[in-house]
Amino acid sequence: MKRVSKAVFPAAGMGTRFLPATKANPKEMLPIVDKPLIQYAAEEAVAAGITDLIFIIGRTKRAIADHFDKAYELEMELEMKGKTQALEQLRGMLPAGVNCIYIRQAEALGLGHAVLCAEPAVNDEPFAVILADDLIDAEPGVTKQMCDLYDYYQCSMVGVQPVAPSETGAYGIVAGEPMSDRLLRMQHIVEKPKPEQAPSNLGVVGRYVLTPRIFHHLRRIERGAGGELQLTDAIQALLHEQQVLAYRFDGTRYDCGSKVGYLKATVEYAFKHPEVAEEFSAYLKQRLCPPE
Ligand code: G1P
Repeated sequence: MKRVSKAVFPAAGMGTRFLPATKANPKEMLPIVDKPLIQYAAEEAVAAGITDLIFIIGRTKRAIADHFDKAYELEMELEMKGKTQALEQLRGMLPAGVNCIYIRQAEALGLGHAVLCAEPAVNDEPFAVILADDLIDAEPGVTKQMCDLYDYYQCSMVGVQPVAPSETGAYGIVAGEPMSDRLLRMQHIVEKPKPEQAPSNLGVVGRYVLTPRIFHHLRRIERGAGGELQLTDAIQALLHEQQVLAYRFDGTRYDCGSKVGYLKATVEYAFKHPEVAEEFSAYLKQRLCPPE
């Protein structure tokens, strides 16, 4: 039995909803308080026992690789200035034994294509896919919840949550047969359907565990919604030959690819951040309910 030890982070999208901030920087590098989204995603993977982090990077590639590289000059400077806390934070970003692999996606052909680019690093193993702009606050993390389910069911699965019926056009939407409170045996998945064509209101939100058989289908799919090669279409093909589950995860998700979702995440994570929580809460309180 193989455990999930690899995670793929597609990060080559255009980030159009966040321009101009994402013109020269990937949206995955946008910070929530003091950590970029991609680091939250990497930490979620590591907490699930994943040891190989595979980043699919695009045109604005450098920042992500630089972020996870060791920064000798910076560390030396912090050491000289006695800034031990900052130094420890930098050194502890990823534990020893975790490997970062970077693969360049030369053309932004869609999420399905980005995942296919990971095949040489994934090979014949089950793997997680984490979309860093879907930030999910959960304990344990959603990737850990799903890897534990993989250990038991040994099949592909996608993380889902109910979405507003008017918003189905922004998501992969699934339909299936309930197996338990939180699990469905998936019978159908469709990318970005119009509300009147949506088979349910359960939307896929940025977490997948997939068997390597998905690559077979990713090589065969044609351009789908938005003219892109869609991971959703490959999953629809996969579920004809293997069981695929939809998992209604336990956690709060912030759509950090949208401005409002990003701002909500910033506020919520600031409330929990030991360094800024108190001062920030006092400020917000005063801002929203000014004294008469
Ligand atoms: C992608 C997937 C979609 C999924 C969504 C979650 O779409 O294609 O199925 O529901 O992520 O955030 P995107 O948001 O990249 O258009």
